[in-house]
Amino acid sequence: MLVEIFSDYEALSDRAYEIVATLIRRKPNCVLGFATGSTPLGLYQRLVEGYRRGELDFSKVITFNLDEYVGLPPGHPQSYHQFMWEHLFQHVNINPSNVHIPNGMADDIEAHCAWYEAQIQRVGGIDLQILGIGPNGHLAFNEPGSSLGSRTRIKTLSRATRRANARFFGSEEAVPRHAITMGIGTIMEARRLLLLASGRAKARAVRAMLEGPISAMVPATIVQLHRYAHVLLDKEAASELEYNHHDGISEPFDIH
Ligand code: F6R
Repeated sequence: MLVEIFSDYEALSDRAYEIVATLIRRKPNCVLGFATGSTPLGLYQRLVEGYRRGELDFSKVITFNLDEYVGLPPGHPQSYHQFMWEHLFQHVNINPSNVHIPNGMADDIEAHCAWYEAQIQRVGGIDLQILGIGPNGHLAFNEPGSSLGSRTRIKTLSRATRRANARFFGSEEAVPRHAITMGIGTIMEARRLLLLASGRAKARAVRAMLEGPISAMVPATIVQLHRYAHVLLDKEAASELEYNHHDGISEPFDIH
């Protein structure tokens, strides 16, 4: 793992931008895996700015999002479709037919999940998967107890996740009970992982992810098994780590 710790969220987002922008410039038809939530917002804002400055061309970029709530139509203000268009896609020259986000309204969810996996295969797999981490250690919506070999499927959201996401819906009750999520096995097939974590509320989960034993009860611990897992933390998210990158936990690799 390559772990980098930054003074604050802005510096972390600058670094995330540098990594993603470098990939887009070097491989204009790259396949990017996107996450939603608060953490990647700084990165998405920078991608929009990079596009406006003429540094980035998204016309050939292909994207796959990690997850979507079941029962929310794409236009719902809290759907992840809406999130991605609002914060990134509508501001850049992405080809809408290159955008893939699970359909939370699919009639046959199982068939839709199989189709989603097949689309990832069809384009040759994901080059770089952006990830956040839940305070309970979830990865995408793979909640504690998820099979570490899982594929894209429907998952029941944990109480902790519905509580954490209540801030977007006004109340915990309003948060959908299910989501479609890429599986842990799906995520692990991405050629590179870029996991971002910011803030004190993530510190325990980050410590478990990087220093704890690999366990289905903390799905994010699986990144320890990935060859190219790159983790960007701010100081607060790193505050419970026993070792930091100066102490040898980090294994630099050629990220470009
Ligand atoms: C979102 C996702 C989630 C989030 C996680 C952290 O697509 O897959 O796993 O990455 O819940 O969310 P934030 O960034 O809002 O703290």
